[in-house]
Amino acid sequence: MRVFTGNAHRELAKDIAKYVGIPLGELEITKFPDGEIFVKIVENIRGQDVFFVQPIALHPNEYLMELLIMIDAARRASAARITAVIPYFGYARQDRKDQPRVPITAKLVANLLVAAGTSRILTMDLHAQQIQGFFDIPVDHLYAAPALIPRLLEKKLLDPVIVAPDAGGIKMAHGYAEAMEAGLAIVSKQRKSATEVEAANLVGDVVGRDVVLTDDITSTAGTLTQAARLLKAEGARDVYACVSHALLSDLGLERLKKSPIKDLLTTNSVPGKDLSDFPVTVVSVAELLGEAILRIHGNKSVSHLFSYT
Ligand code: R5P
Repeated sequence: MRVFTGNAHRELAKDIAKYVGIPLGELEITKFPDGEIFVKIVENIRGQDVFFVQPIALHPNEYLMELLIMIDAARRASAARITAVIPYFGYARQDRKDQPRVPITAKLVANLLVAAGTSRILTMDLHAQQIQGFFDIPVDHLYAAPALIPRLLEKKLLDPVIVAPDAGGIKMAHGYAEAMEAGLAIVSKQRKSATEVEAANLVGDVVGRDVVLTDDITSTAGTLTQAARLLKAEGARDVYACVSHALLSDLGLERLKKSPIKDLLTTNSVPGKDLSDFPVTVVSVAELLGEAILRIHGNKSVSHLFSYT
């Protein structure tokens, strides 16, 4: 069994390999003068069970292409099985045609991964769980919640309510609410543009209670901060945010700083920005992903990794 990585998030890949108990595999990535990516797997992987760790984040075009090329190299080097370990699966937000003449990039990326030679996928908190069905190869889909919930419980929240900041987040919020024995509320969101959203209505009771906004992604933080303002206006006590993938832009960080959100809890599924200006707690998912890799390699069940305790 071998674990390799590209340039997307070496730190996480190293931690995963450490948990698995093997060093990261040796692989060279260079570029031709015109920018084309060249990959060379330095060690023999014939007949091996090969895992490539690569989130598709921050520079998604570059890192997706790296991943595809690494997989192609492994297939041509006669790897027995190739698993793409994608802690954050980019391009997944475009998962349906919601206006004329637009793509479904989640399906396109699924097709590309399979065409390159991927045998199976290991990922975490896809934008929509149904994206699993875009693949006809096995997909192990983990949740970040088991890693994040213990940290939320440490906060000793007052009569907590978990809030989905939009309709798409209801399933995730419901999972947190059940596991934490908390209330559930929903904000209705209208997206005006890629950076602007409007949080219009609240369904549920938050008066005098601590609330936790849960989401798969925060990017410009428009979704979280608009929802937080509405929650405060509706009488919530303290507002916290908990997201699986922090793809924060500078705009996102500015918005968080000016918002009523007390702090952000997230994972290291993507490399961290400098977040020293805002209270952020980053929980590592290296153990979760490493354990999943060990179980996949050993043909063992991964169900245990969904447990919240
Ligand atoms: C959208 O449906 C996602 O679940 C997130 O709510 C969204 O991507 C967050 O984006 P932003 O932080 O830019 O509002």
